[in-house]
Amino acid sequence: MENKERMAADKQLVEEHLDRLLPRKDRLTEAMRYSLLAGGKRLRPILTLEFCRACGGEADSALDAACGIEMLHTSSLIHDDLPAMDNDELRRGKPTNHVVYGEWLALLAGDALQAEAYSAILRSARPPRVRAEAARILADAAGYRGICGGQFLDLDGEDRDLSEEEIYALNDGKTASLIAAACTMGCVCAEAFDKLPAADACGRAMGIAFQLRDDLLDVESSTEELGKPVGSDEKNGKSTLLALRGAEHCRRLVQEETEKAISILRSEFGAPDFLIWLTRQLAGRKN
Ligand code: IPE
Ligand code: IPE
Ligand code: MG
Ligand code: MG
Ligand code: MG
Repeated sequence: MENKERMAADKQLVEEHLDRLLPRKDRLTEAMRYSLLAGGKRLRPILTLEFCRACGGEADSALDAACGIEMLHTSSLIHDDLPAMDNDELRRGKPTNHVVYGEWLALLAGDALQAEAYSAILRSARPPRVRAEAARILADAAGYRGICGGQFLDLDGEDRDLSEEEIYALNDGKTASLIAAACTMGCVCAEAFDKLPAADACGRAMGIAFQLRDDLLDVESSTEELGKPVGSDEKNGKSTLLALRGAEHCRRLVQEETEKAISILRSEFGAPDFLIWLTRQLAGRKN
């Protein structure tokens, strides 16, 4: 199968399972499904499936964990767009959750998606150690060591000049943590527990590159291509590496982090063609 077809097939597996995991019952579940099934690249769940495969496991055995991580990611996007945070009105090419459902329902939809992420992992028909370890990894990536910690630095740093080290910690927390969790959870699903440190290092490098590219796209892309508003960072006075060191420096770092991730894929994961291709794709992505 060609790489593009394989990506589409993984994406379809994830989307069909998300739809099964979260049936529509009422307006709360409707609001949750609105953002969850709105599209999106599904990068994190694809990484979970593919790291599971790279460790010799079956993708099906990682599907609940993959969907859990996408639920948690979507909850972080709903909250990130709220007026109290980035105050953005477009996401995945559609009006943001709070624009359609109002703020209190968007808050609840985000909260409920976060809880549902753990439920999907813990209800999965996998050995207790796999479920417990996957849930622990997601919790660490979601809380003060991960997304919440990074989002705190991001919002607390608005209209201030953060140092390069502070910006690295911000990007690592808000973005690289969850991307690294997607990789390590894939290894856990294949019961390849010895691969966690390598998968974490690989995912962190991919995640830093991913956020630097996101910041570049925020100034260089268009709202149509991105499916979210460009210029959001400047509007909010965000302290980014792009603002501090310029586009050329960021582009160089994207390449460096990408090569770092690929060298780990080669040395620790048997040089999987698809994952190497995907990592390169992300470095030059347009949305
Ligand atoms: C957006 O993530 C938030 C960041 C960490 C930059 P994605 O770019 O993966 O968003 P979707 O899931 O494709 O919508
Ligand atoms: C991503 O940072 C933060 C999350 C953890 C959701 P951004 O605020 O740059 O993400 P976008 O650009 O709104 O997707
Ligand atoms: Mg933000
Ligand atoms: Mg934002
Ligand atoms: Mg952004």
